[in-house]
Amino acid sequence: MKTKIINTPDMQKAADRRPSSTVFSTMSVKSFDELSKLIKGKKYYIRTYGCQANIRDEETMRGMLENVGYIPSNEPEEADLIIINTCAVRENAEDKVYGEIGNLKYLTKKNKELVLGFCGCMVEQPEILKRLMTTFPEVNLYFGTHELGNLYSLIYAVLTNKERIVSIESKPGEVVENLPACRLNRFKAFVNIIYGCNKFCTYCIVPYTRGKERSRKFEDVLDECKSLVKAGYKEITLLGQNVNAYGKDLDEQKDFADLLEAVAKTGIERLRFTTSHPWDFSSKMIDIIAKYPNIMKFIHLPVQSGNDKILKLMGRRYSRQQYLDLVKEMRNKIPGLSLSTDIIVGFPNETEDEFQDTVTLVDEVKYEAAFTFIYSPRKGTPAAKIEDNVPYATKSKRFIELVKHLEKHIEEKSNKMVGNVYKVLVDGTSKTDEGMLSGYTEENKLVHFKGDESLIGTIVDVKITESHTYSLIGEIVNG
Ligand code: SAH
Ligand code: SF4
Ligand code: F3S
Repeated sequence: MKTKIINTPDMQKAADRRPSSTVFSTMSVKSFDELSKLIKGKKYYIRTYGCQANIRDEETMRGMLENVGYIPSNEPEEADLIIINTCAVRENAEDKVYGEIGNLKYLTKKNKELVLGFCGCMVEQPEILKRLMTTFPEVNLYFGTHELGNLYSLIYAVLTNKERIVSIESKPGEVVENLPACRLNRFKAFVNIIYGCNKFCTYCIVPYTRGKERSRKFEDVLDECKSLVKAGYKEITLLGQNVNAYGKDLDEQKDFADLLEAVAKTGIERLRFTTSHPWDFSSKMIDIIAKYPNIMKFIHLPVQSGNDKILKLMGRRYSRQQYLDLVKEMRNKIPGLSLSTDIIVGFPNETEDEFQDTVTLVDEVKYEAAFTFIYSPRKGTPAAKIEDNVPYATKSKRFIELVKHLEKHIEEKSNKMVGNVYKVLVDGTSKTDEGMLSGYTEENKLVHFKGDESLIGTIVDVKITESHTYSLIGEIVNG
């Protein structure tokens, strides 16, 4: 198979943050008509790894593919187009993808017309792309995170030229509006407000894979939220790698607090946002969260480490004390606030004492939820160049110790919820027990309870009867 390389990634270009104004554009409909004739009745399958940014990208791709005539399928075996939407944040995220493609390779032999596409954060890295292209010659389409708007012409080119297409341009990225979306949930919607990341935490690959921070225009975000309210959505989650940076790149003089307030005023029943970087979380934002009852009192506030030296080496831009002061202000102003976090154990050369600072911070903040990770070197990031003298076994031991502390606090909070009544947005039937419904409280606790399926998509009052570390059991009290 011939390979046509339109663009390949370049880490240096991907890191370029020279000031330039954000480019706003609309979807390219080039090839729409030609493609729609070619793929009548054909099926597609998408598998997504990684964070909400990738899930939201899947929704856009689904919207585009279904508009042009593709039919969704849950079976890769019957699909004529398979897209693997990858994540590169840690090595184990990549390993999952290598495993998956091994399983899919044989399908290209069965179906000579199969378009097998790779997108997402893995393909944005030159080394990984090279490895994928040599190990899996069967894959005939690679496209980058800035390329979604060109999906039609890329698929058309693979189908008609019978060649492998690689289109991954490392660029600041643009904001493409008016892309269709086929949302994966009928009641809860993700709304992008800012793409990319400018923080360059020294361990993290995301700024290289997702480009420069660029905000959507205030009115564009608001219009999308209003139409979601009109369509009956109950919950909106505003998305960005760092939502607090919203608006800094716009001429509009609007910040994240202004946006939160405007979206709260649309009357959406539940408003959430993720992720917040502690560095630019302002008092004005805290005041807005406190003021509007429909803004959920739940903040995901990654700390990463409780030690000043490690925080500095990570490039996090705040000290332990600044983080704790922020938490104090939040808890003072927002009664009933739930906090969750992300923590990395085993940053290069982290000592036992430095690690213990994270443990004491966890004991002080008493998070309601947490994601903990063992540091995974990402090629091309500054931290990956540091020689590390800590054995993996030590990191694993510390990881287990930290999780024990986190779980103790989470359990204590969950136990306190027993006997009280909470509002739960019913998601669906419980994954483990068909007779049970499940959903999340305002503070983002998962609850299982008996109830009729007709309640799915509504908000019900549930009295908590039993608590487990990561979920609660309850019973409906309002019929
Ligand atoms: N923009 C978000 C999400 C970043 S990725 C944020 O800043 O919070 C989600 C989490 O993955 C990070 O918070 C961090 O805890 C973890 N992570 C990122 N890079 C990592 C690495 N190289 N090794 C281990 N964990 C990592
Ligand atoms: Fe990565 Fe830091 Fe940006 Fe989050 S803020 S995406 S951890 S560089
Ligand atoms: Fe993974 Fe990319 Fe998200 S690396 S966590 S899919 S931004």
